[in-house]
Amino acid sequence: MPSTLKTAAQFFALRSLVRGYALIGDPYAGVMSSPPDRDPYAMYEKVRAKGDMVRSRMGAYVTPSRELCDSVLRDPRFLTATFDEASMVSITLVQDGHKVVNPVQDSFLMKNPPDHTRLRKLVQPFFTPRALKDRTASIQKIVTGYLDRLDGRFDVVEEFASQVPIQVIADLLGVPDDDKALFARWGSSLAETLDGVWSYKQLKGLHATIVEYNDFIDGLMAERRRNPQDDIVSHLVTQHEDLSREDLVATTGLLLFAGFETTVNLISNGVLKAFENPHTVAPLAQSPEYAEGFVEEVLRLDPPVQYTIRWPRERVELAGVSVPKGMPVMLLLAAANRDPRTFRDPHRFDPTRSNAREHLAFSAGIHYCVGAGLSRIEGAIALHELFKRFPDLAPDGPIARRRSRLIRGALRLPVRANASKRPLAVKST
Ligand code: HEM
Repeated sequence: MPSTLKTAAQFFALRSLVRGYALIGDPYAGVMSSPPDRDPYAMYEKVRAKGDMVRSRMGAYVTPSRELCDSVLRDPRFLTATFDEASMVSITLVQDGHKVVNPVQDSFLMKNPPDHTRLRKLVQPFFTPRALKDRTASIQKIVTGYLDRLDGRFDVVEEFASQVPIQVIADLLGVPDDDKALFARWGSSLAETLDGVWSYKQLKGLHATIVEYNDFIDGLMAERRRNPQDDIVSHLVTQHEDLSREDLVATTGLLLFAGFETTVNLISNGVLKAFENPHTVAPLAQSPEYAEGFVEEVLRLDPPVQYTIRWPRERVELAGVSVPKGMPVMLLLAAANRDPRTFRDPHRFDPTRSNAREHLAFSAGIHYCVGAGLSRIEGAIALHELFKRFPDLAPDGPIARRRSRLIRGALRLPVRANASKRPLAVKST
């Protein structure tokens, strides 16, 4: 059989298998095959009703418990997957006989110590509280700059929520302005396939994106070697000359894509939560402190990253269930964030909730999100300034959801607003 047909047949068989198991109520198959744009929270509650550690007939284990998710994430007996295992179909890509570096699959997000430790250390200094404090004024400027272009009818995702994080992370890395437009397209293609590649068409799209990204970053690294600036790419290519090309391409790529494909959803989910809870709009527009609590509660109740997976390197006993070596354990972060044992009245949106920060939206343990502080700042400034500028912001047409089970957010969110209306009286920021 020609290899393309063989791959297509593999995808078809895999899809049918997972859908079949979902039909008989299998929790793992249910998450993996639910319509990607459907509200998943009712399904998570069905998993919770089955217990803290639910065995899937597909061999995987699923947990909606906050305590168990947190302990697995901090447990050195658990490893992060290679992407091949996570997506169930091998997607290692080759171009002209050379491996094409996948900025997610080959990055330290998917590595275990000691490689993970070595690579993570290289970028952490750019995300310390001190470094972020120095960035806050420029984030404020970026947000205001995009708001100045908006009035009347616009798509809040396309023209604001995606633009701000792209600009912030591109500035940090040193991506020239003219190239930023490419990222929205690449990011969508990558984000769509993070929960697995399910069709041959998706595989081809992913391949094209990654090849284009490899070419682009090779060019940028060469330019920064010749002409270093004050940015992360320049720092990595000039201060860490021993790093392999693969590590360089994957590390910068991870920061780029993790840097905006998640924060865009935090902002869009935040706008939706404000629409659903109109009483929160005035305090959100008036108070930067309230905006910080608002962002934390959005992260808890509707997190951009819905789950993650870990594999035990040995047999492990969890909540009375014995998990064999090498079996995937799906940690439902979004369900953990609604665990009634940690969060009172867990389905209620309450930006003043005192323990919202106990959510697992940024994971925990050694893979805790490097960009958590940055996205908190971006989210709070973006939502505060958006509603301060447009206190009358309202939905203006059907909302389209992202087609992913892993990444949750809006793809299109048409709104109308009138900047000429007098804004609410606000505290200065
Ligand atoms: C609301 C926005 C964001 C969310 C919800 C989010 C969520 C996450 C989660 C859940 C993980 C860990 C996954 C796992 O344990 O398997 C992670 C890791 C990571 N995130 Fe984020 N992230 C966000 C923003 C950012 C930003 C802005 C950056 C960079 C500028 C970033 C960079 C990273 C990196 C580098 C890792 C890998 C950490 C490691 O493996 O040690 N993230 N993120």
